[in-house]
Amino acid sequence: MSAVETKSELGEAASSLKGMPLLEIEDLRISISSEGSSFEVVKGVSLTVCENEVVCLVGESGCGKSMTALSVMGLLPRGVARVTEGKIDYEGRDLLSLQSRELRRLRADSISMIFQDPITSLDPVFTIGSVLKEVVRSHRDVSRAEAKEIAVRALVEAELPDAADHLDSYPHQLSGGMRQRVMIALAIALDPRILIADEPTTALDVTVQAQILENLRARQREREMGMLLITHDLAVVASVADRVAVMYAGEIVEEAPVEELFANPQHPYTQGLIRALPDISVSRGSLHSIPGRVPSPQTPPPGCLFAPRCDHVLDSCWEANPELQRDGAQSLRCFNPQPFEVR
Ligand SMILES: Nc1ncnc2c1ncn2[C@@H]1O[C@H](COP(=O)(O)OP(=O)(O)OP(=O)(O)O)[C@@H](O)[C@H]1O
Ligand code: SF4
Ligand SMILES: [Mg+2]
Repeated sequence: MSAVETKSELGEAASSLKGMPLLEIEDLRISISSEGSSFEVVKGVSLTVCENEVVCLVGESGCGKSMTALSVMGLLPRGVARVTEGKIDYEGRDLLSLQSRELRRLRADSISMIFQDPITSLDPVFTIGSVLKEVVRSHRDVSRAEAKEIAVRALVEAELPDAADHLDSYPHQLSGGMRQRVMIALAIALDPRILIADEPTTALDVTVQAQILENLRARQREREMGMLLITHDLAVVASVADRVAVMYAGEIVEEAPVEELFANPQHPYTQGLIRALPDISVSRGSLHSIPGRVPSPQTPPPGCLFAPRCDHVLDSCWEANPELQRDGAQSLRCFNPQPFEVR
């Protein structure tokens, strides 16, 4: 897929009307304590997700995407990671100050999360029907028969084939794609306002991946949910996002509406990610890749965190880390942005 093709595909998605802000993350900082040392893995991230909007958080492995998502859910690994600064508001309520009981209720009623690997998220000793009905009954005052009806409806919406017949199935009796559909059913059964999906299709083959993403997008649109979709795959971003935040080494380095990001990427890291997209219409000797790797959070480079890998690095880039500059719907963290050239 080329940047140009991607842009034309996405006009429709980006044109839909967005609503009020639901989730507002402001200057979030997360530290990890490990073997006596402490280091920051999320460094002042700000991000907003509105009603009826899909925001994609994209970046290479280790950039802090999952830590950001887990902090919203209050699910950071206890004793290892903690929020040290910042705010996370859901419809104006400060999530970081909620008691765990209130947060559990909010997680069930308003914010749901889908994880990357459904096999580790589903308990192998329970049938999927019993898990779904339990989730529904513990948060809604409904009879067993009504809970079953809601469970089957959610599975049908998640497009699990022969949904009612699978209520008595155990997770190991389903394929990876079917298990991920069960996770989607669990996530939407209680009609959340926000869905956070952390690499929901990475473990699946490409065809199933496309079907699952299409299903997620359809559920999001009909419910006008806000969705924060985490991925390292720009092709996925292209097919579902309204807005994109690019994360590198714990920081947002660029944010823009999706069509703008693909048409006119500004940050050298975003440009590298877009160049690395495979394009079957162009015969290249080899795929483009960004040289080097994401720095370890324990030993960040001086100045701009992308400097060791950057084509446009200046002497001054080694001296200070640029601030994120906002300009309308776009933001950029770079001292020396250059026009995008497809190579
Ligand atoms: N339990 C943990 N203990 C110690 N360090 C951790 C732990 N979990 C994550 N980290 C570190 O925190 C940083 C951010 O990790 P995070 O899981 O948020 O990255 P990510 O962007 O989600 O990556 P991926 O795409 O691989 O899922 C990484 O450097 C990672 O090594
Ligand atoms: S600030 Fe400098 S090193 Fe960092 S991305 Fe921009 S040009 Fe590259
Ligand atoms: Mg992750």
